[in-house]
Amino acid sequence: MVQGAANWNTEQTQEWLQNYVDDWVAFYRKHTSDGEVASYIPILKEANKDHLGISILGKNGMAIRSGDVGIPFTIQSISKVISFIVACMERGVGYMLDRVDVEPTGEAFNSIMHLEMKKPEKPFNPLVNAGAITVTSMLEGRTSDEKLEPIFHLLEHILGYRPALNVDVYESERDSSMRNRAIGYYLLEIGFLESDLNITLETYFKQCSIEVTVDDLARIGMIIANDGEDPDSKEEIIPRQVTRIAKALMLTCGMYDASGKFATYVGIPAKSGVSGGIIAIAPPRVREEELPFINGCGIGVYGPALDDKGNSIAGIRLLRHIAKQWDLSIF
Ligand code: DON
Repeated sequence: MVQGAANWNTEQTQEWLQNYVDDWVAFYRKHTSDGEVASYIPILKEANKDHLGISILGKNGMAIRSGDVGIPFTIQSISKVISFIVACMERGVGYMLDRVDVEPTGEAFNSIMHLEMKKPEKPFNPLVNAGAITVTSMLEGRTSDEKLEPIFHLLEHILGYRPALNVDVYESERDSSMRNRAIGYYLLEIGFLESDLNITLETYFKQCSIEVTVDDLARIGMIIANDGEDPDSKEEIIPRQVTRIAKALMLTCGMYDASGKFATYVGIPAKSGVSGGIIAIAPPRVREEELPFINGCGIGVYGPALDDKGNSIAGIRLLRHIAKQWDLSIF
C-alpha cells in the first residue's frame, strides 16, 4: 500500500498521487494490446485500442486525471445503472423489485439461454441485457424520446450539462443488434415487457449511445458514492435507498460473469460498458490510518480494448492496482 503522507486530502498530496497515477496509467497502457475492441456493433471497431484514461473525483473535490481523459465515448451498458435508477425514481423501488430480480447470472451479458433454461418469474437483474431491456420498457413515456428525457434530465442535473446522443453509434447498434432483438422478442413472449417492443428497443439503443467522458463517469460515481447527495449543495439528487440498491447490483452483477473476481480483487461497486468505459464507486471507509479518498470517490475509466467478458482489459487491471495501493476495497 502507498505510504507517506499524514493527510491525504491536501493539495501537496494531490501532486504526489497524480504522479503515481500517471506512472500506473503508463504501465497499464501496455496491457491494452492483450485485448480487442468490440466489433459486434460495427462502429465501435473504429475506437483506438491503445487508449487508456482515468478520472478520479473525491467528495472533497480533489480530482486526479491521467491518460486519455478528453475522449468522448458511448456509455453503453453503464446506462443500465442510470435507467434502473430513473425507473426506481419514477415507479418506486417496490414496483421495480417486484418485476426485476437482483441475482447475478454468471452468464454473458447478452445471454438468452439462461432465461429459457431457468424460466424465472422475472429477469435476473437490471444490469444484464434482458433485465435492462425490461427496465427500459418500464420507463414512463409513450415514445423513446419521452422515455429518455428523465435519463437526460438526471444526467444534466449531475453533470451540469446535457450529454449528447451519438446518432452514428445508435444507428450502428439499431441496424446490427440481432441478439438484442432476439432477447426482446423472447421477453415479449414471456410477458415481461411493459411497453411496445420496438419503442423499448429504440429507447434501449439510444440510452446506450449517450456520449460521456471519464470525468462525467467520475462525477456520477462520486454522487452515488455519497448516497445520491451533492456534497457541495447538500441536495438529494438520487434517493439514498435507490443508490444503495444500485451499488449492491453493481458489486454483484456490474462486471457480468467477472463480477465475483472484480469484487474479490478490486472490492468496489463498478459497471462496465462495451465501448470500454467503467464507472467505479469507492464509498467512504473507516480505517485507523489516513488513506487517499477516504471519504469516497467516483472513478471513470476508458480503455476500449476489452477482455473476453466484454470489460476493459487495461481498465480492470488499473483499477485493481489502484484499489490495492489505496485500500479502496469495501471489505
Ligand atoms: O446491448 C448491447 O449489446 C450494448 N449496447 C451494450 C452492451 C455492453 O455494454 C456490455 N458491456 N460490457
